[in-house]
Amino acid sequence: MKKVLIDCDPGIDDALALALAAGSATSDFAESANSLDVVGITTVGGNVDLPLTTANALALREFLALGDVPVTPGSAGALLRHTVRAAAVHGSTGLGDVVLPAPRRGPSEGHAVDFIVETLRAAPGEITLVAVGPLTNLALAVRREPRVVEWARGLVIMGGSYTRGNHNPAAEFNMLADPEAAAIVFEAGWTVTMLGLDVTLTATVTSAVLERMRPLGRLGKELLVPASQFYGVVTAEGGPALHDACAVAYVLDPSLFTCVPAVVNVETAGQFTRGMTVTDFKIGDRRANALVATAMDVQRFWDLMLGTYEKLAAR
Ligand code: BDR
Ligand code: CA
Repeated sequence: MKKVLIDCDPGIDDALALALAAGSATSDFAESANSLDVVGITTVGGNVDLPLTTANALALREFLALGDVPVTPGSAGALLRHTVRAAAVHGSTGLGDVVLPAPRRGPSEGHAVDFIVETLRAAPGEITLVAVGPLTNLALAVRREPRVVEWARGLVIMGGSYTRGNHNPAAEFNMLADPEAAAIVFEAGWTVTMLGLDVTLTATVTSAVLERMRPLGRLGKELLVPASQFYGVVTAEGGPALHDACAVAYVLDPSLFTCVPAVVNVETAGQFTRGMTVTDFKIGDRRANALVATAMDVQRFWDLMLGTYEKLAAR
């Protein structure tokens, strides 16, 4: 089993990423090297404010039957600058038209940054961090205890791009929401596996994919279908991209992606380019601080996603 700690800001695609993780943690996969053990969920202000991302994570924990996986709230806003939100994309609640039952249990005591540090300290080399929101919690964890860089088995992020932005022409949302935090994380000394828009936008929900979600019982009816429909117009050619699910899929099966070593610097000062991930594939004698995804096998990605959702729905 692969142990993961997921830092997120649910968020529609965060929710579908958590569903992939939950499905991969079911007993069907327990004997497989590709199963996940979710050791914790931490939340950050991002797509919507922190109280909402935390409430959504709590509701998802119960809806997805993630048991007693701790949900620990973290940073409400960016390290230095103003707050950027994406409610226009994810709806005012963060989950669009999805209405999940109110959670019966609340969040864990304490702060996400402490949870990240102490969880990694207790299991050095075992836990992969998966970050699918702004990188504020991770930056603070690195500052608080630089050894998290050694203790983490790896760090996989959904964020950035070497070709384009989405919140504006230069910057992807998670990077723009806290560029200083992203810069700290990329400069921390580990190798960041960066799944950016370059690949996540290649796997979009087509009407065929949506049809495969419909028969999945409550999972399809109450989460997958309304989430996908709210998130974008679904056509035969494609609709919304489930960005964050790509990061969980990478941990499950890295062979879905082609990744290339690079030096990535996050622009923090540019008037029009703040949050841009400036990616240099010509490394020379520098250390690569990132493994950047440049391609993904879209067909196998959907087979993994929908196969896992089917197993989760059948439980
Ligand atoms: C990223 O931004 C957020 O809106 C999504 O949840 C995803 O993490 C895509 O740019
Ligand atoms: Ca997200």
